[in-house]
Amino acid sequence: MDTRPIGVFDSGIGGLTVLKELEETFKEENFIYLGDTLNFPYGDKTKEEIISFSKSNIEYLISKNVKMIIIACGTATSQSLDEMRELFDIPIMGIIEPTVQYVKNMSIRKIGVIATTGTIRSGAWEKSLKKQISDIEVVSNACPLLAGIAEEGKATSKESIEAVHNYMEIFKQNHIDTIILGCTHYPIYDEIIKKEFSYKVNLINTGKAVAQNVKKYLSENKIQNKGVKNPPKIILSKKETDFDQKAKNILKSAKKLDITNFY
Ligand code: DGL
Repeated sequence: MDTRPIGVFDSGIGGLTVLKELEETFKEENFIYLGDTLNFPYGDKTKEEIISFSKSNIEYLISKNVKMIIIACGTATSQSLDEMRELFDIPIMGIIEPTVQYVKNMSIRKIGVIATTGTIRSGAWEKSLKKQISDIEVVSNACPLLAGIAEEGKATSKESIEAVHNYMEIFKQNHIDTIILGCTHYPIYDEIIKKEFSYKVNLINTGKAVAQNVKKYLSENKIQNKGVKNPPKIILSKKETDFDQKAKNILKSAKKLDITNFY
C-alpha cells in the first residue's frame, strides 16, 4: 500500500481528459494535476524546450511527494519520455505506450492519428504502432489549431468546426474509421469530429488506455492506496481565464474544484 498521490501534468486543460478517466477508474487514489499554462502551447515548441518543461513539471510534482508521474500530454510524451525516465528515479508513464497496447488488441490494420505539430514531427505514434503491429498502415495529420481553440474554451465555435472539417479530409479520403486522439486536448472535440464523417468512426481516447495501465501498474507493484479519496488538486503555472469552468466541463464535476494558481 502507498498512500501518496499520483502526479499528472499537461500544458493546460488537455490532460484533464486523462484525469477524468483516472478519477472514474480509481475510487481510492488521489491526484495532483499540474497544468503548465505558463508555457502553453507545447505543440509548436522545440524538443529541447519540451524536455526543459517536462523536467520542471516532474521536479515540481516530486516535491509534492507523488508515487508516480503520468505525462498526460502527447507532445511531452513523444519528445521527452525517454529523457525523463533517464533523469528521474520515479515511475513515469506517457500516453503512447498504453494506447498502442490497447490498439494492438483491436486487430486493425489501418489507423489515423491526429496530434500537435511537434508530436507528428517526432513520428513517435507511427514508430510505436509499427513496432507493435508490423503491418499496420498509419495516416497521421497535425492539427495545430485545435489545442489552442480548446484552451480558449471555444471548441464548439464556427472556427473550430471549420478547422476540424479541414483536418479530417485526409481520413475521409483514406476511408479511415479508427483515429487515435494523440493530443489530450482532442477528446473535447469528440462529438464534432464524429459529425464530420458520413460513416461511423471510432475515436481512441488515450485517457482510457492510460487509466487501465496505471491500474495494472499499481496492482503489480502493490502500491495502491486504500483509504480516503480527496478531490483532485489542480495547480496552474499561470492563471487562466475561466479555468474552473472549463475544467468542470471536462471532469463533469458539479463541485467547486481545488485550483491553485502560480507555484
Ligand atoms: N495536450 C497536449 C498534447 O497532448 C499539448 C497541446 C499543446 O500544448 O500544444 O499534445
